[in-house]
This record gives sequence, structure tokens and C-alpha cells, in this order.
Amino acid sequence: MSNHSDPKHSGSQDLLKVTAAAKREFPDPTEGNSQLPAGLLLVFAAIICFAGAYFGIYHGGFQGDVFNESDSTPALLSSKKAATSVVTQAPVELSLVEQGKAIYANCQPCHQASGLGIPGQFPPLVGADYVVGSEKRLIAILLKGIGGPIAVAGSTYNGAMPAWEKALSDRKIAAVASYVRATWGNAAPEISEAKVAALKKELAAKADPWTEAGLLAIPSDAKIEGVTEAAPTSGAAPAPMGGTPTSATTAATASAAPAVDLEAGKAQYLAICVACHQPTGMGLPPVFPPLVNSEYVKGNPERVVAIILNGVMGPITVDGKPYNNMMPPQGAVLTDTKISQVASFVRATFGGGAGPVTVEQVAAARQKYGSRPTGWSEAELKAFPENN
Ligand code: HEC
Ligand code: HEC
Repeated sequence: MSNHSDPKHSGSQDLLKVTAAAKREFPDPTEGNSQLPAGLLLVFAAIICFAGAYFGIYHGGFQGDVFNESDSTPALLSSKKAATSVVTQAPVELSLVEQGKAIYANCQPCHQASGLGIPGQFPPLVGADYVVGSEKRLIAILLKGIGGPIAVAGSTYNGAMPAWEKALSDRKIAAVASYVRATWGNAAPEISEAKVAALKKELAAKADPWTEAGLLAIPSDAKIEGVTEAAPTSGAAPAPMGGTPTSATTAATASAAPAVDLEAGKAQYLAICVACHQPTGMGLPPVFPPLVNSEYVKGNPERVVAIILNGVMGPITVDGKPYNNMMPPQGAVLTDTKISQVASFVRATFGGGAGPVTVEQVAAARQKYGSRPTGWSEAELKAFPENN
């Protein structure tokens, strides 16, 4: 065809071009409803289901400061009981630490996001005795500040840290203290607002910041007066070894004879137990049971020593959840001294402050049970008296 070159037909040709173009176009859009393609709906549904399931399984215990997917398990989806216990526990305990994370912005310029400080200028909070040790000392530092030479983690610092009692509320001090105790691998328990308030009252007359000597004069196991919530265990309080001394006598004997080295116990824990029972002592359900909230930890000290000596095997229920695994015996690896240290550490840290276990107690237990060829069963462990 030669339409293009024919000048006579050019008018009608133009018209044809326009209509042809119009035919190629889609019709003008009009208002109205049309169904989403079913395939697309299915895709969305699949994405939502996947996201829900993923979140349900890998919520990491809803802890803002920890990214550990394995803190939770697929079993949560099927086990109603486990799921509700997570839901009911989470807000109470986590909010303090989580709040503390934001408040740590006050500390970060000096102690750094890593908690490692700046060598020579700002001391580390990671693994520092003042952080993970005595809660009374830590709160005292935060309330009043500190100045002058101080040894932290083997180095000496000579700076000044401001007091926080005016800048931060009791709750915020409790939160940030709990945060630094539970972060960067630190695994010390939370500090309640009530304790901060009580210590603030006790130290009301103190105007100047602490010196190292002043801090060390606070016994490392000093209790904060005027707080009654020190026993988180409902029902029978865990009785320290050797009968049931009153709290006054426990404190007296403990400060008179600093018999067991808890720091060494912590080192044992971090070397041996941590792989299974985790830095938090919460274990890894459903494989490794928690030491927190465990009668085996805070109850009869002879029993926890027996567990460490010989291990555990077979089905056992801890904090309401069933486990069926095996813990290897540690008796051949650890001396009596080390067992007394690690047992005392887990009791003090995860056992709600249960009393220490002496080397003599470990030696006596080894005498009795050392030659056992197998780990303990739940029934055998239950046969120990609850408190000894
Ligand atoms: C202006 C800098 C600065 C800020 C902000 C600061 N600190 Fe400190 N902090 C120091 C210095 C310096 C020392 C050591 C003081 C000395 O040498 O006597 C110290 C010591 C400490 C200690 C005892 C030693 C140790 O490392 O365990 C703790 C605990 C501590 N600070 C916690 C905190 C917390 C928690 C916050 C936030 C609420 C905070 N600090 C904010 C500078 C600071
Ligand atoms: C290789 C992993 C592993 C190591 C290392 C380990 N445990 Fe265990 N522990 C377990 C398992 C698994 C159980 C439960 C055994 C069962 O299901 O019968 C358990 C049970 C326990 C129990 C009794 C149940 C409970 O949760 O209270 C205590 C107490 C305990 N371990 C303390 C310790 C201490 C202290 C250490 C370090 C000296 C330690 N364990 C090292 C895996 C381990």
C-alpha cells in the first residue's frame, strides 16, 4: 500500500490513524468494584501466616536488648501453658531492663555503647565487680557518684563520675542498674526500685561522692535495709545449709567468714555451665532446663552438689516444664573447691540468693556419691530432703 504517499487521501488517513490509536488504548477508567485476583489474596494470606508464625517462634523472649532467637521455641506454638507463662512473665521482668536501655544513653558517652569504657579514662561496666557484684555498692555509686583512684578489672582509673540521684528517679536508677547488670554478658539479677528508694533514704545524709575506700567498706554481701521483697520465692524460703538460721545470723556468718569466692564461681560457670544453662541461667527450653526458679538450685545444697558431681539423666520437670536429656557429670573435672564456688555462685545468682555451699559440704557429698556410675534420675533427686 502507498497510503502515506498519496496526498489526496491524507485527510481520511489521519482520521484512520486517530481511531486506530484510540482502539489500541484501554478504555477510560470508571468507578466501581472489582475482585482482587484470588491468587494475590492467597499470596497475602501466606505472607501473613508466615510472618505470624515466624514472630511467634522467634520473638527472642521479647527482650529488646538481647537478640537470641533460640530463647523461644516452636513448642510454644503447641504448648498453651508455656505460651501463657511467657506472656505473663515478660512485662514484669523485662520492662525494667528495657527501660534501662534507654536510660543508659546517660552513661554511654563515658562508658560507651559496648560497656567497655575507654581505657585510662572511663572504666568498663562489662564484668566489673561494682556492676555484677554487690547491689548495694552499685546503687550507692549511681546515687552519689564516685571520684579519685579506683581499680576496675585490673586497671586503675582516676576520674569523676557524676551523682545521679537528682537527675534520675529511683525507678530509672533501678532500671539502668538492672540493664547494666544484664547486658554484654553480665548476668546479675535485677535491682528493684524499692531497693534504690531504701538506700537513698539510708544515705540521705551523705553529700559527697564515694571514694574507693568508702565503697569497699560496704560489705560485698550487705543487704539493703528496709526492703522486704528480698525473698522472691513464694512459699517456703530456701533454707541455707546447716539448719535454718535467721537472716541475721546468715549475714553475720557470711560477713565474718567470706568463705566462698563467688567471682571464681562465676568464672567456673562461664567456663562450663554457660554453654547449656546460658548466661542468664534461663537454659534453652526444651533442651536445657533453667537454673532460675529451680528448686534443685535453691533447695538442699547437698542435692545441687550431687547434680554437679554426677550429672542428671532422663525425664525431669524444672519450673513446670518437662526436659528429657542428660547433663554430663562434672565430678572428675572440678575439684571440691571449684564445685563449692560454682554451686555457691548459681545459688546466689539464680537461686534467689540462697546460701553458699562450703568445700566441706562438697567433700562430704563426694565421699557419699563420688563412686556413682550414672547420673541422677528425677525420682532419686526428689528423694533428697527439700532443705537440708
Ligand atoms: C561523665 C562521664 C560518666 C558518665 C556520664 C557516667 N559515668 Fe560511670 N564512671 C565514670 C568514671 C570516670 C568512673 C570512675 C570514677 C573514678 O575514677 O573514681 C565511673 C565509674 C562507674 C562505676 C564503677 C566502676 C565500674 O566501672 O564498675 C559504675 C558502676 C558506673 N560508673 C556506672 C555508670 C552508670 C550506670 C552510668 C549512667 C547512669 C554512668 N556510670 C555514667 C564516668 C561516667
Ligand atoms: C552439656 C550441657 C550441660 C552442662 C555443661 C551443664 N548442664 Fe546442668 N543440665 C543439663 C541438662 C540437659 C539438664 C537436665 C537433664 C535431664 O533432662 O535429665 C541439666 C540439669 C541441671 C540441674 C537440675 C535441673 C535444673 O535446671 O535446676 C542443675 C541444678 C544443673 N544442671 C546445674 C549445672 C551446673 C551448676 C553446671 C556447671 C557446673 C551444669 N549444670 C552444666 C545440661 C548441662
